[in-house]
Amino acid sequence: MAHSVPMTPGEISRRRLLTTGVFGLGGLIGLVYIVAILRYIIPVGKSSSSFEKVGTVSDFQTEVPKRMPLGVTRTNNQPTGGAWVIKHSPTSFTAFDMHCTHLNCPYNWTGGSSPQGVFACPCHGSVFAKDGQVIQGPAFIPLWKRAVTVKNSNVLVGGIIS
Ligand code: FES
Repeated sequence: MAHSVPMTPGEISRRRLLTTGVFGLGGLIGLVYIVAILRYIIPVGKSSSSFEKVGTVSDFQTEVPKRMPLGVTRTNNQPTGGAWVIKHSPTSFTAFDMHCTHLNCPYNWTGGSSPQGVFACPCHGSVFAKDGQVIQGPAFIPLWKRAVTVKNSNVLVGGIIS
């Protein structure tokens, strides 16, 4: 028959230390996962309320996506980002952030100078329709839309709106 031996004060504090360490480490790992998941879902750091001129209305062919750099003036002519801009009419444009919603790779337009094509990401194979909807994963979030407006025939692109 087994009988329990009372623990010494040294054993109790060692056990408490181990328990605290295991729970603390588990909590830290859980926190890292939560931050990573939120970072994946929410495009942190890409939102901006300011608009940048990316060209004039005549720089764009109707319904042909064109990739335009953003942030060029901020860092020695090295753009900090970009957008795929689509002209629907002289007063109606759509802009998508240039980063794939899977893991942020820049994606391409497959149609060249044709209005027919899809957006394809070279990193893991995601494919998006011209309206930004996912055609093929692993991405499951549509392309991030950026604000876009036309003022005095200038096309201005702003931060991510959806
Ligand atoms: S980053 Fe585009 S498919 Fe993974």
